Amino acid sequence: MKKALLIAAALAVTTSASAAGKLEIFSWWSGDEGPALEALIKIYKAKYPSVTVDNATVSGGAGTNAKAVLKTRMLGGTPPDSFQAHAGQELIGTWVVANRMEDLSSLFKSEGFDKVFPKDLIKLISTNGKIWSVPVNVHRSNVMWYNPAKLKAWGVTVPKTWPEFIKTCSTLKAKGVAAPLVVGENWTQQHLWESVMIGTLGAQGWENLWSGKMKFTDPKVVGAFTTFGKVMDCANKDASGLSWQQASDRIIDGTSAFNVMGDWAAGYFTTTKKLAPNTGFGWAAAPGTTKTFVMLADSFGLPKGAKDRAEAVNWLKVLGSKAGQDAFNPLKGSIAARTDSDLSKYNTYSKSAAADWKSNKIVGSLVHGAVAPESFTSAFGAVIDQFVASKNSAGAAAAAQQLAVRAGISK
Ligand code: GAL
Repeated sequence: MKKALLIAAALAVTTSASAAGKLEIFSWWSGDEGPALEALIKIYKAKYPSVTVDNATVSGGAGTNAKAVLKTRMLGGTPPDSFQAHAGQELIGTWVVANRMEDLSSLFKSEGFDKVFPKDLIKLISTNGKIWSVPVNVHRSNVMWYNPAKLKAWGVTVPKTWPEFIKTCSTLKAKGVAAPLVVGENWTQQHLWESVMIGTLGAQGWENLWSGKMKFTDPKVVGAFTTFGKVMDCANKDASGLSWQQASDRIIDGTSAFNVMGDWAAGYFTTTKKLAPNTGFGWAAAPGTTKTFVMLADSFGLPKGAKDRAEAVNWLKVLGSKAGQDAFNPLKGSIAARTDSDLSKYNTYSKSAAADWKSNKIVGSLVHGAVAPESFTSAFGAVIDQFVASKNSAGAAAAAQQLAVRAGISK
């Protein structure tokens, strides 16, 4: 009898443990990129203490590695319960068109998300009235970072246009700064290219590229490639071996003067390196892009066939909540996607980004999934690699145009 009771008790424990559930969250926010996500998970755990959270990360900036692993999981029939994807074409052009995602529009209604996210952002994550992911933030891509004390010591100011940048670069080289600009691995070079293009063609020109109104072979685009080549001549020679964090480090230690990176760099400077905005690090809109906010948003979706669907839905609720967003974003360097966020929780950098988000012209980032079909984006890295090696502007422009035609962007 006693034995039977013990067995029954043991069984009850196992059943309740499995009823308590699990949740696998898949993202590329590991290591230095982890603290903001951990703050969100902390909120989730406080709400759902019996759920075991598997924080499954695949490291690698911009998700270059995570996206490849995700593909094998999705195609192999073992999707994570919820995964990170950029708002826009990155998710819509892949797992949504392949019919692998759940429509979240009823969740948006029940949680009131349809009222608190900006209309344009909801448009970016929707097709035919269906909503495909919950955005946790808004990041800005077109930011140039510098070390204020070092710029002062070198006697240079922040260049306002790309031609001015190239002049400042010569000045710095003459002062013995071997690499006035620091860049990292391939995707960070594409990231820089994006700012050079927008700073040269203007926000409207950038939009025209993605709507097919302007061809990549347009002389203005070819000219912008040439400018990009001159900008790259200011950069370090060991770029391909550097992560974005290692590139950021060279601003802090004064090896290089400038770095163009998204504002996760602000998260890195403040959360990881404990630097204060304005003194520990400085920022400006990338040359030629003042009054333009190049946006991207990290979001999470719900794949069809998620093993722990109920837990994943609760995760999405936390992600989209005001408390969740205002815990995550001050650590991440981004601003909340929600319009009702409490700005008193954010630092000076983020407050300035929030003000610009309201007043600037908004365009989408290419590299971070917002504006172009994934078939274009995933192939574009090779165009940049080849251009950086050859500096052949007309060739790169023609190659990009071919990709644009194949992706259905241009005729
Ligand atoms: C972006 C992402 C950011 C940050 C960055 C560097 O694509 O949206 O949240 O993680 O990559 O890895």
